[in-house]
Amino acid sequence: MIVRLATLALLVACHGADGGDMSAIGRGQQLVTVGGCGECHTPRKLDPARHMPVPDPTPDNETGLGTWSEAEFIATMRNGHRKGKERVMLPPMPWQNLAAMSDEDLRAVYAYLRSIPPIKNRVPEPKVSAQAIAAFERRL
Ligand code: HEC
Repeated sequence: MIVRLATLALLVACHGADGGDMSAIGRGQQLVTVGGCGECHTPRKLDPARHMPVPDPTPDNETGLGTWSEAEFIATMRNGHRKGKERVMLPPMPWQNLAAMSDEDLRAVYAYLRSIPPIKNRVPEPKVSAQAIAAFERRL
């Protein structure tokens, strides 16, 4: 009986608040750290130069990844288009590098980003002409 209870506790511990897999979330957190996502996606209070108008990949429904499916997130990292089909993501978002991650790792990053508390952060559209975006896309 004690063993059964211990197993149950372990199962509970392995699932996050949203039912996510804790081992994937932990791995995702590690990858987000190694990938330096926070360097661009987290404002640095001590260095105003770091306050870049970049989307914060947090799970807010309106301004973040809240409505993105796992498949859309993976497609975004693979082909550089938001949700895998919208506008191409411009530099310095290093999606060409992140595309080298395995599906399993990208799933872990998604699980981690979904596990952190959402913040509302409306980001202005880039101040780049449609022609410049098209030219960037042609060079890919
Ligand atoms: C060197 C800076 C930089 C780094 C590092 C970086 N990003 Fe980005 N990211 C950006 C910029 C800039 C954009 C916006 C690009 C655009 O809109 O054209 C962006 C866009 C995104 C988007 C699209 C969000 C949306 O709503 O359009 C996601 C998701 C994202 N990044 C996730 C990540 C993850 C996950 C990592 C780490 C593995 C990461 N980024 C690392 C700069 C960065």
